[in-house]
Amino acid sequence: MAIDYTERIPNNVELASNRTLQRALEHWQPAFLNWWRELGPTDFQSSDVYLRTAISVDPKGWANYGYVAMPEYRWGIFLAEPEADRRVGFGDEFGKPAWQQVPGEHRSTLRRLIVTQGDTEPASVEQQRLLGHTAPSLYDLRNLFQVNVEEGRHLWAMVYLLHAYFGRDGREEAEALLSRHSGDADNPRILTTFNEPISEWLSFFMFTFFTDRDGKFQLKSLAESSFDPLARTCKFMLTEEAHHMFVGDTGIARVVRRTLEVMQASGSDDPDTVRAAGAIDLPTIQRYLNFWFSSSLDLFGADASSNAASYFANGIKGRPDEKRFADHLALGSFDLEIPDGDDRTRTETIPLRNAMNEVVRNAYVDDCMIGLKHWNRILEAAGHGYRFTLPSTRFRRGIGSWAGIPTSPDGERISREAYEAQLPSWLPSAEDRAFVTSLMVPVTEPGKMASWIAPPDKGIKDRPVDYEYVRLA
Ligand SMILES: [Fe+2]
Ligand SMILES: [Fe+2]
Repeated sequence: MAIDYTERIPNNVELASNRTLQRALEHWQPAFLNWWRELGPTDFQSSDVYLRTAISVDPKGWANYGYVAMPEYRWGIFLAEPEADRRVGFGDEFGKPAWQQVPGEHRSTLRRLIVTQGDTEPASVEQQRLLGHTAPSLYDLRNLFQVNVEEGRHLWAMVYLLHAYFGRDGREEAEALLSRHSGDADNPRILTTFNEPISEWLSFFMFTFFTDRDGKFQLKSLAESSFDPLARTCKFMLTEEAHHMFVGDTGIARVVRRTLEVMQASGSDDPDTVRAAGAIDLPTIQRYLNFWFSSSLDLFGADASSNAASYFANGIKGRPDEKRFADHLALGSFDLEIPDGDDRTRTETIPLRNAMNEVVRNAYVDDCMIGLKHWNRILEAAGHGYRFTLPSTRFRRGIGSWAGIPTSPDGERISREAYEAQLPSWLPSAEDRAFVTSLMVPVTEPGKMASWIAPPDKGIKDRPVDYEYVRLA
């Protein structure tokens, strides 16, 4: 059966005029839909969801709202508008024309970066597939599905690049993106964080705040790439990604608000009292934050990395917002604080290019602070003395100089015994998780919220909070 691709797959890459690409996608699309039905959100596939669909990249077209059943979602392919005479913005090739095709010598590196990015997109959908059953409101259920369909579109974005620019091995990689599965013992997703199940909504909000934000910084680095189609693809993905982090930021803010209400009503901030009232005590929220922040930090890679240096030198992957920097060659040096002996730290000076992962990670940490300040302002406005803190980037690391080095959340080196003894108080315990999970009951009446979360300030696209965002079938 012939499919009208301009109809089915909205795009700005002239899909209709590219037969080869069209045929490749004709093969891939049914496999994608099978994957969506088998490993996308469980059930709800026939419910109508008030979703945003991109049909072009201009301000009017990228956010079209309407009811759609998820399998009918129009996963499109969009690249940001081309920049006239775009040049390589950093590294040894600085100032030369950007690449419209993949240079042979960078082919396998670019393919690996695209596959790694592409792998995270369906992974997160798989991680979140059960959450629909315990959504705290229809508003939240809709946001979950919005995030899920857009991660699906981000997979399309990467698969488009693989099909259009990498020939046969690109097509094979596109298939493999649907055959690895999050948490699968034999064939897991590439990055560890994307194999952790997300079985309750506090983790979902932490994930969209901290882990999607890692995605934002990866995309920002790739949006600087000299490989222009990759840069333009990532630029447009960032537009959508902003909503995912909004879901995390406001989700956690609403949890905090509800906890404050409960504490004010009972006149007590004792965690047991808060929990008895069906809300989540602040120290538990902090422990979740410690877990997701530290696990997301590893996604940036080792602090000293020769791979990162060669990505930069070769113009493959830049720094987020490269234009902010005065010097695009980055031939200077960078001071790393690394562990020394059993209990000390020392400064090691390394070439700046080798420290690119650390540069990006530091920009990410600054960005995370914006959320922290937001949540702390809510506490402050309520006259409460509790404040959330971001753990040190040395805490609980699995990759880089600090991997496996026992430190406290504030970055002090401590003995292994002290670390082991205190770690359970720094991370969500089995009991914390069981408690949070016990709160997860679905609320499906429009405008109503579960006991542990406050309503949002406003609805989606000027709709009221009690709008029927999902018509449950
Ligand atoms: Fe994404
Ligand atoms: Fe995302």
